[in-house]
Amino acid sequence: MNTEDEITAKDIQKALEKRTSLLPQEKLRLFVKYYFARRDMYLGILGKNPPPLYVLEIPVLKEKADHFKMAFKDVLPDVAFYYAVKSNNHPDVSRALVKSGFGLDVSSSLELEMALGLDAGDIVFSGPGKTKEELALAAGNSGRTVVLLDSFGELTRLESVAAMNNTTVRTGVRLTNNPAGLWRKFGILLSDLPDFWHAVQKCPHIRLTGLQFHSSWNMTPVPQIEFIEKLGKVLEGMCEEFKRAVTFIDIGGGYWPEHGEWLQPAGTPEGMLRKALGKEAGSAGDHYWVPALPIEHFAENLGRAVKRHILSVTECRICLEPGRWICNGAMHILLSVIDKKAPDLVITDAGTNSIGWERFETDYFPVLNLTRPFMKEIPCDILGSLCTPHDVWGYSYWGEDIQNGDILMIPSQGAYTYSLRQNFIKPLPMVVVI
Ligand SMILES: Cc1ncc(COP(=O)(O)O)c(C=O)c1O
Repeated sequence: MNTEDEITAKDIQKALEKRTSLLPQEKLRLFVKYYFARRDMYLGILGKNPPPLYVLEIPVLKEKADHFKMAFKDVLPDVAFYYAVKSNNHPDVSRALVKSGFGLDVSSSLELEMALGLDAGDIVFSGPGKTKEELALAAGNSGRTVVLLDSFGELTRLESVAAMNNTTVRTGVRLTNNPAGLWRKFGILLSDLPDFWHAVQKCPHIRLTGLQFHSSWNMTPVPQIEFIEKLGKVLEGMCEEFKRAVTFIDIGGGYWPEHGEWLQPAGTPEGMLRKALGKEAGSAGDHYWVPALPIEHFAENLGRAVKRHILSVTECRICLEPGRWICNGAMHILLSVIDKKAPDLVITDAGTNSIGWERFETDYFPVLNLTRPFMKEIPCDILGSLCTPHDVWGYSYWGEDIQNGDILMIPSQGAYTYSLRQNFIKPLPMVVVI
């Protein structure tokens, strides 16, 4: 550790005094009210399908897709949309988005096979470490698939696979937008772009047609804009032949939904520090909030940056790869109470293997008692039935009371839950599509 990394008591005090904003009560109540108002519809599903269930609402996906498209179509002359399949890999999600005019962004042969099976006409295949078999599948479907190359090595591997298939493959190359830390595993350095272009010239079966970058978890468009500025400068220095070849620039996904990030005390930086110091993270009844900006703000500001730094240098299509923003609100989880063990402790039928990670220890989402709806939040440990204490749905519920057999709903669990589900101890819930 160098001396600059030394932590003083003052640093700790300062960090502990930081306060993440509290989630405004009005925002939370509006959210709960919205889902309670639709209670009969959700309970109606249970007539035919016993809990636990995932409920997938196709009309929500359609509405989100139209909203997202509209925001960006208003500000960019030539724009295309690709749904990031990894965010929710249920085939009906991708099917609905293809119907809404989206292409699909896939990251494995599993996802690519699904996209091909859904007759998606426009697919981008991104991700590090593609195997030869995955490259061969893409090369065999090059009419519908653009391979977003992740490295010089992958370029060489795809060239030999494409030569064997006697085909030419359309490609782009992913650019590293954060060369420090773990994000350096993605793509090539911006400064290596001229060398990559030279390497492509030696690959007769590869046609480089675009560039891609992606930054995650954007509450504002600032991280994307910063990279667009850097990219613009590098593009200016590239040869005319390269600029003519580039027909698209894919600026990735990472748009955080407008409701922001809702956190338990243990999910805030000050709560994590308190826990590391052996204290309680905070009061379980407090919910915290990291705001995110509306998609129109992303669109306006990204549109402006793209026009200024990219379209002024080269004419091309701008591609976007949203995942979370599109699918998060479209899937919910329905559970039932199996065992009320104390007035403030219940066990549910499903465990958090259905979402694949210990999400609700750090993220807050209201647990709604659909059987006894009431606009009041009551402290109670709502825990799953896995043999681990980390199987947490929440530390409270919204309702009048809670009893065995009650139906609980955790709304808006569409992104990075269903596709992370695990085969662990309990069977996985069925999906009901409405
Ligand atoms: C290359 C790429 N594009 C798009 C996405 C989708 O991101 P999000 O779901 O945050 O919009 C991801 C997510 O990891 C990604 O890696």
